[in-house]
Amino acid sequence: MYFFEIQGGTRLKGTVKVNGSKNAALPIMAACLLTTEPNRIKSVPDLADVRHLTEVLTKLGVQLQRLPDNTLQIQVQDETQSLTDYDSVRKMRASICVLGPLLARRGYAEVSMPGGCAIGDRPIDLHLRGLRALGAQIELKGGNIIAKCKRLRGAELFLGGPFGSTVLGTANIMCAATLAEGQTIIESAACEPEIVDLGNFLNAMGAKISGLGTPRITIQGVDELGGTEHQIIPDRIEAGTFMVAAAITNGELIIENCRTEHLMAFIDRLRLIGVHIEKDNHAVHVCSARRLNPVDVTTQPYPGFPTDLQAQLMALLTLADGNSIITEKIYPDRFMHVPEMNRMGADLRKEGPTVIVAGVRKLIAAPVMASDLRASAALVLAGMAAEGNTIVRRVYHIDRGYQNIEEKLNSVGAKITRASE
Ligand code: EPZ
Repeated sequence: MYFFEIQGGTRLKGTVKVNGSKNAALPIMAACLLTTEPNRIKSVPDLADVRHLTEVLTKLGVQLQRLPDNTLQIQVQDETQSLTDYDSVRKMRASICVLGPLLARRGYAEVSMPGGCAIGDRPIDLHLRGLRALGAQIELKGGNIIAKCKRLRGAELFLGGPFGSTVLGTANIMCAATLAEGQTIIESAACEPEIVDLGNFLNAMGAKISGLGTPRITIQGVDELGGTEHQIIPDRIEAGTFMVAAAITNGELIIENCRTEHLMAFIDRLRLIGVHIEKDNHAVHVCSARRLNPVDVTTQPYPGFPTDLQAQLMALLTLADGNSIITEKIYPDRFMHVPEMNRMGADLRKEGPTVIVAGVRKLIAAPVMASDLRASAALVLAGMAAEGNTIVRRVYHIDRGYQNIEEKLNSVGAKITRASE
């Protein structure tokens, strides 16, 4: 198992480039199950999660070939397999995004129920409710979901849950509806840019989808979909993580391949904190004032503040002049980073779905443990700002969502060494 040793205290300065979005690439890779024609997907980041979904799709009869410059050539060769086992879903919940495409294309899908994970319970009741609305028979057997339907029928369905819209639930229903008979309307659909990117990919395959980016998506079913070529949007969460890296080290970064329009809520908070952010075409220039202001943050479905940047912003706010309040409305338990940051001298107090962040003058290096993808990124950010050498253990979590993060950060002045336990 690998760990990072981070020598804190250096200011970052220079240019970093953002990769293609993990959370757009995963459902788009799964959507290739909807045709037997070849698809060419550009800017697919080389991440553990992408490699894992590649294994899952290979078991489902898909041939995937990684070409130079992060391009994936994907083509279904055999449509007889339709099982995605527990081990696959246990390792990565996002494997659930094969359910909708498999059911629509092959009329049968057997996918393991996802277990829980570090950020909290990960139910899929909305996915199943949506597929039933399209006429699927769904049963649970031995921990697996078995979904059957000869031909799905379009329907008008409400996909909202107690925490608002569901990203991968919208992906599953939208994919399934592309080959259903008739029209489907999804009310309370996810508006995330990754879902818009998936919908654009499906339309390029011949689907008829409108309303992308709004809470009401309409899909006119077609008989079949073809192959296409698609460029994945930039990873807004990686971009936001680098913005915090510039601010927390009191440095100055140019972040290339960054669509600031996908990060308005996040940039709004950063500017209130005192971080200067200037757009320059598809790049953004980030630097911060020495003094950081405290702010209040509540995570919401897009276009609200993204839950995937909550831990990273908390790392920054540990050094603000005053008290901030962070409320997590998407995953109320997504605070595994709180005790680890307190080990570094932060002053964080969790009250249910809220954390009170009392700003401190400095963080002190300590050995800490990564627990989930974004919490581990936040610990790396805290380590770069802390006095002394921080050890972050279990960095396999970070490798799930960031391609060679230590190389990128070291190229602009960080001092991070990856070593094995
Ligand atoms: C996607 O997960 C992202 N993953 C997550 O990013 C992200 O945190 C999440 O959306 C929210 O933005 C991918 O895109 C691969 P949800 P998803 O269904 O789709 C509840 C990362 O760090 N819910 O939008 O699984 C659920 O419990 C990952 O890159 C139900 O109640 O999340 C949560 O509270 C972590 N029933 C809320 O909705 C359901 O059937 C949002 O979940 C489905 C979800």
